[in-house]
Amino acid sequence: MKISVGVNVGHDASIAVLNYENDARGNLVVYEAERFSKIKHQEYFPIQAIPQIMAEVKDVWKTPSHNFAICCNEIGTTVKERLFIQKKDYTQALKSLRAENFSKILNNNITDISHHLCHAYSALYFSPYEEAIIVVADGVGSNGDVYKESLNDYSTDEQPEKVTKKNFESISIYHQKNGSLTLIEKTWGEYLPYLQPDIFLNHGLGSYYTAAANYIFANWHEAGKVMGLSAFGENQCHDDKLFEYLESEFKKERNIYKGQKLFNEQPKNDFKRSADIAKTLQHYFEKKMISLVKKLKADFPLIENLILTGGCALNCLTNSILVNNKIFKNIYIPPCPNDEGISLGAAFYKSLNGGLTKFRPYPIQDQNPFLGSQRILTELENHNKIKEIFNDYEVSYQADPTQRAAELICDGELIAWFQGRSECGPRALGNRSILGLPSKQGLKNYLNQYIKCREDFRPYGCSVTKEDAHRYFESPKDYEMPYMSFAPKVIEQQKHLLTQVTHLDNTCRIQTVSKEQNLLYYQLIKKIEGISGHPLVLNTSLNIMGQPILESIKDAHAFFQSSKMKHLFLGNLYISK
Ligand SMILES: [Fe+2]
Repeated sequence: MKISVGVNVGHDASIAVLNYENDARGNLVVYEAERFSKIKHQEYFPIQAIPQIMAEVKDVWKTPSHNFAICCNEIGTTVKERLFIQKKDYTQALKSLRAENFSKILNNNITDISHHLCHAYSALYFSPYEEAIIVVADGVGSNGDVYKESLNDYSTDEQPEKVTKKNFESISIYHQKNGSLTLIEKTWGEYLPYLQPDIFLNHGLGSYYTAAANYIFANWHEAGKVMGLSAFGENQCHDDKLFEYLESEFKKERNIYKGQKLFNEQPKNDFKRSADIAKTLQHYFEKKMISLVKKLKADFPLIENLILTGGCALNCLTNSILVNNKIFKNIYIPPCPNDEGISLGAAFYKSLNGGLTKFRPYPIQDQNPFLGSQRILTELENHNKIKEIFNDYEVSYQADPTQRAAELICDGELIAWFQGRSECGPRALGNRSILGLPSKQGLKNYLNQYIKCREDFRPYGCSVTKEDAHRYFESPKDYEMPYMSFAPKVIEQQKHLLTQVTHLDNTCRIQTVSKEQNLLYYQLIKKIEGISGHPLVLNTSLNIMGQPILESIKDAHAFFQSSKMKHLFLGNLYISK
């Protein structure tokens, strides 16, 4: 079988299966552990995904010819040690699943790849360009030991002796020319125990965001919330003092990482202090990224394409500033730049290096970001079974679900929209979405209080047809922003249409939708335009705060039962309360 498998055993654990049997580009499925375990950002070996993989790719564990790759980046542990920690659990689980062969194959066929190289290969899989600069920036990558183990994957003059297990990948820059990646530069961060005694942090762009998320929300995964909070703050210092300011803030309370929330459970004035930290940090982040990108352009004046990946590529405010600055002609962010994409990077590394495929640029309009389990496609067709599950509710068949959905949205209703395979990564792209009219007064508050149960300072995103985005947002005409990775300013005259999705700083995180990438969702937005006059829809992920995006029909039922949502579209079925 022409299959390669990649595994991410860090946070946001996942298994990616790339199958080249009937598809030259590879039929790709990314099984995210959290979608099955319901533990958000779940780490360690993603055992929970295995039954699904077994059901969908029946022979995946059976032959010894598979190409397995795995990524590990923990202090002091190599890949094997990391698996050993879990060995008891996972061996038992595999036995009960009759998948014992898997551990044998895995142990004999592992290739260790550094975290940043996986990010880079994940970006390479989706790269629409023959040539580009790829910037990988995140909280923390692999340590020096993992890097040294896989050193022959890199072409670099750097002396590996200089890096140790106390040094971590911070920013890695690659030159992509067709299917090959050449490391241009790698910045190493040093483990700073005073910043974080039990989770590794270093002097890096992403690490500071991680530290701020922990400091403010007692959750180091909440960098996105810090970005949203920044609109409410003021920059607290001159540019040359930014670094010192942030360090001194984080040092003020040595126990900040032990779960004490600065914001939300504290007196009100802490909101201001939290927002000021967030604003100062965002300013620091933007300044650093802009100067990095300018330097890269100066070093590679003939290259017009820039790809940003790693968790820092989720900073949609900075991404939009970079687009507006026009330093590079094109900026592309892949659909899974954060750690959900690590397993894909590992699998694609094996595919290319194992001769299973060849690189070819992947035009954005052809890309498929809906990489969740494939079994849902047949489950959505089984109407009798769905009716059985939803027997407490009214269920009706809709030959064209977009018509009824658009009518409800334009009447000011919120709908749950569950179609096809799920999106890879943490945001909705129109297959697992809650949708509403972005001009409907009070919608955001209702969503916050009764459906999503989340903080009221956080903004919502908006989907818009690709060809119309520039009429509502300050973005270049026909610029592709299909993955909610950019937050341009809302055009002043159009603000009244976007009251529920315009943030305090007048930005809005947008998704440009094309008929090539998601025909059904595109048709829905066109129907909304037909009724309201504008191809705009508020789009937020179909989940409750703190829980993963819905994966299965069972999940949809549990959500519908426990929430105040009144309308649910499951494929061609409309379910109402
Ligand atoms: Fe990462």
